[in-house]
Amino acid sequence: MQNFVCRVLAPEDSEAWQKLRLEGARDFPSGFLVTYEETAAARRDHCRKILAGGSFRGVFTEENLVGLCGYRPQQLKRTQHRGVIGPFFVTRSYQGSGAAKVLMAGVIEEAKSNGLAQLELFVDTENLRAMAFYERQGFERVATHYDSVRVDGESRNDHLFTLRL
Ligand SMILES: CC(C)(COP(=O)(O)OP(=O)(O)OC[C@H]1O[C@@H](n2cnc3c(N)ncnc32)[C@H](O)[C@@H]1OP(=O)(O)O)[C@@H](O)C(=O)NCCC(=O)NCCS
Repeated sequence: MQNFVCRVLAPEDSEAWQKLRLEGARDFPSGFLVTYEETAAARRDHCRKILAGGSFRGVFTEENLVGLCGYRPQQLKRTQHRGVIGPFFVTRSYQGSGAAKVLMAGVIEEAKSNGLAQLELFVDTENLRAMAFYERQGFERVATHYDSVRVDGESRNDHLFTLRL
């Protein structure tokens, strides 16, 4: 298996990160809330600012970014036991390679070391590949959020998945 490394993304990663987001928003729209047009409208300095917030993790092979994961530990006292994941995306040529597993394992380890009790994510109810992946990482489906997203006016439903840490 290839050597994959997971780490926090920084402003210096913004070009590679934006390239991945554009690919994901264009080719896997059900995996993203943001549209391709909204993604494309983000200027370099805005991308750098987002990454400066420290809410993205990336998976690399030989210095190349091949996947990204939004990770937001909750800040309020009553919800700070929870962490929210998303978007989660691995570039097409690295899907099925194990990169996604390394990325998720990195986020799970970080959440555990932050003392979190639970990770949460939403996934389109027809995104079978993503759900199979999340279940293999230990996530459980706990609820359905109806009409959670509208894609070009079409109503879509999400499942809520959680992982107890
Ligand atoms: C979701 C994603 C990160 C998973 O990573 P991955 O490397 O593709 O995952 P894997 O190939 O290791 O695992 C996917 C599982 O689904 C299976 N699978 C593949 N295609 C499938 C399909 N069309 N329907 C159902 N299952 C499928 C695979 O066989 C594998 O299961 P197995 O290991 O038991 O055989 C990646 O596919 C991706 O980035 N997708 C596009 C963006 C996206 O949908 N993100 C999730 C948003 S919530």
